[in-house]
Amino acid sequence: MPPVPAFLYGTAWKEDRTAALTELALRTGFRAIDTANQRRHYFEAGVGQALAAAYRAGVVPRADLFLQTKFTYQRGQDHRLPYDPAETLAVQVAQSLSSSLEHLATDYVDSFVLHGPSSGYDWTEADVEVWEAMRKERDAGRTRMLGVSNVQLPHLEQLAATETELPAFVQNRCFARLGWDREIRKFCSERKIVYQGFSLLTANPEAMQHPPLINLAASLNATPAQVVFSFARAVGMLPLTGTSSAEHMKQDLGSLDLTLPPEVVRAIESMAG
Ligand SMILES: NC(=O)c1ccc[n+]([C@@H]2O[C@H](COP(=O)([O-])OP(=O)(O)OC[C@H]3O[C@@H](n4cnc5c(N)ncnc54)[C@H](OP(=O)(O)O)[C@@H]3O)[C@@H](O)[C@H]2O)c1
Repeated sequence: MPPVPAFLYGTAWKEDRTAALTELALRTGFRAIDTANQRRHYFEAGVGQALAAAYRAGVVPRADLFLQTKFTYQRGQDHRLPYDPAETLAVQVAQSLSSSLEHLATDYVDSFVLHGPSSGYDWTEADVEVWEAMRKERDAGRTRMLGVSNVQLPHLEQLAATETELPAFVQNRCFARLGWDREIRKFCSERKIVYQGFSLLTANPEAMQHPPLINLAASLNATPAQVVFSFARAVGMLPLTGTSSAEHMKQDLGSLDLTLPPEVVRAIESMAG
């Protein structure tokens, strides 16, 4: 199995442009794709079209890709549900993943993520049922790994207290003012969970406009976005970008070649919280 690539290309909010932009991302060099079976924000079948086009053109084979999708509770969906809401949650999980595998024309994904717990704070009985159903899917080989998203520390602590297995990934919106999600990142790093950070640019306008960060970027001949992505990687995150711009795709991947001195990493980590 290939290792997890160092950057995830996110496919949310692209609607009719999903296929073209995802194909462009693959052609530009992204090898990991994040989607969700949540038609309200993602067009997963469009991701599948991009994959098919990339395979046909010989850009990349399936085996060299990391594909991640999500199960979303009904309250996070609109009317276009990928499962029968009258079924149990366990069946909904199986139906959602079957539909994802069909959209992506594959017989396994690399990561299957619970899009968000059922309650804002607690790991509920519903989450326990969903997590067990997700583990069954992993055991059946329909996903290699499992993840959870949009979690607070109590969710993770309560999940851990159920003595089930922990996720391989936590995917969260990463706010600089919360020390770049310091508490959750600490929980993750202590347990070898990979932290995936999204909205690194959009959630942090204060960081992006921070004069020392702007000056640092200029001195490195890099953009502030590249510095943020490089910083993210330096503190152990797996960053996501959902850029729609060909230029930004190249710049984002270019951040992989940027190495920040440790004192700079420490300064950015503590700049806003
Ligand atoms: N689990 C969840 O609940 C959840 C929630 C939100 C997002 N996500 C995932 O994370 C992915 C990324 O979402 P995001 O919230 O981080 O926002 P995003 O879609 O990456 O948006 C980034 C914004 O920053 C701009 N930008 C400016 N310079 C950029 C640069 N160099 N590189 C990249 N963007 C640049 C982009 O504009 P341009 O397009 O012009 O570059 C865009 O408007 C989503 O597609 C989705 O897969 C998951």
